[in-house]
Amino acid sequence: MIKIGILGVGTVGASVASILETNVDIIEARAGKKIVVKSGVVKNLSKDRGVDIKLSDNPLDIIDDPEIDIVVELMGGVEEPYKLVKQALENGKAVVTANKALLAYHRYELQQIAGDIPLMYEASTAGGIPIIGALRNGLSANHIESIQGIMNGTTNYMLTKMINDGAKYDEILKEAQDLGYAEADPTFDVGGFDASHKLLILASIAYGIDAKPEDILIEGIENITQTDVTFAKEFGYEIKLLGIAKKVEAGVELRVHATMIPQNSMIAKVDGVMNAVSVVGDMVGETMYYGAGAGGDATASAVIADIIDIVRGNQAPMLGYKRGLEDGLQLLPIEDIVTNYYLRMEVDDKSGVLAKITTTLGEFDISIESMLQKAHRNESSVKLLFTTHKCREAKIQEAISKLKELSCVHGDIAMMRIEK
Ligand code: HSE
Repeated sequence: MIKIGILGVGTVGASVASILETNVDIIEARAGKKIVVKSGVVKNLSKDRGVDIKLSDNPLDIIDDPEIDIVVELMGGVEEPYKLVKQALENGKAVVTANKALLAYHRYELQQIAGDIPLMYEASTAGGIPIIGALRNGLSANHIESIQGIMNGTTNYMLTKMINDGAKYDEILKEAQDLGYAEADPTFDVGGFDASHKLLILASIAYGIDAKPEDILIEGIENITQTDVTFAKEFGYEIKLLGIAKKVEAGVELRVHATMIPQNSMIAKVDGVMNAVSVVGDMVGETMYYGAGAGGDATASAVIADIIDIVRGNQAPMLGYKRGLEDGLQLLPIEDIVTNYYLRMEVDDKSGVLAKITTTLGEFDISIESMLQKAHRNESSVKLLFTTHKCREAKIQEAISKLKELSCVHGDIAMMRIEK
């Protein structure tokens, strides 16, 4: 019999306990041993968790319990779980974690500490979708060309409602929170940080890149307006918050941002709270993974898959490499990212204004691909919407700063990246 201890018995922890009972037959047959929850640790002992587990409020009751074989970390946070996971590994216990923030900051130290002790984290990225296993095992013969994914259910739900039903940003965020999709602090979702943690985990397996959230481009969906949505529809795009990892000649682009993508691409059709990840390997071509990225049972499904893997004795290296890559890939600096851009600005409705703007873009070698002008009734300003041909991030940022200095341009200039 294998005994597990759960640090943090919230929605996912309760689902782990209940699935281990509900699906006991198949789990035991697949693992070859019975798996039981011995105990759990919670901060607040007086709150009802809806499960019949022995609870304590002291993590050491699990970490130092010689009977516990596997520690399941579902607490959230970064430094506290880091300390506890480290201690559990040092005590020789296998660990399963769903904690993307912990891994975004400490995955390489934890890999070092774990050595041959299994440390698994399928549930950390895209919830129930087995993307870690796919990338680490199923695609291990490939150089990974790119990863493109909807890795945050809250923002996908919000964008779907904003685009399909014209819903207002604040109302729809509240709805996502009420439905239990959003993080405790929703800026984590809408600001792209949650997705960035997941992207960094995948980038380590795909490319061996050790980057932290502050090293990469992260933008959220906060500035998207109905004007952008209408423009996107008119020009054949969907808007999605994407995590993108792409191998280019000079290195690897890692970025999270709202993105216009062609309406007919597979990922554009992924609506609501669902997640999807497309991975292109040099030998396999494009592969696509779709499913629930959050929710108790879906996330617990991934946690238990890891537990079964450990019980079976599978020992894939934590981040997928038995030894370092000889010619390791480097993270491309943000300013060297190359893509197409969409710009939205409010300008005077006067002769010569368009010429000034196109001249400024021309000064930075930015070539316009398409343009739309939307007049407001009874107002002296108009909205100008552009898409550009491919250019460097540094150039578009410089051009935006210069455009903002023009007296005919009013307020901020909104920018969104386009992936074709
Ligand atoms: N807040 C996350 C989401 C939960 O909306 O996808 C899973 O990480």
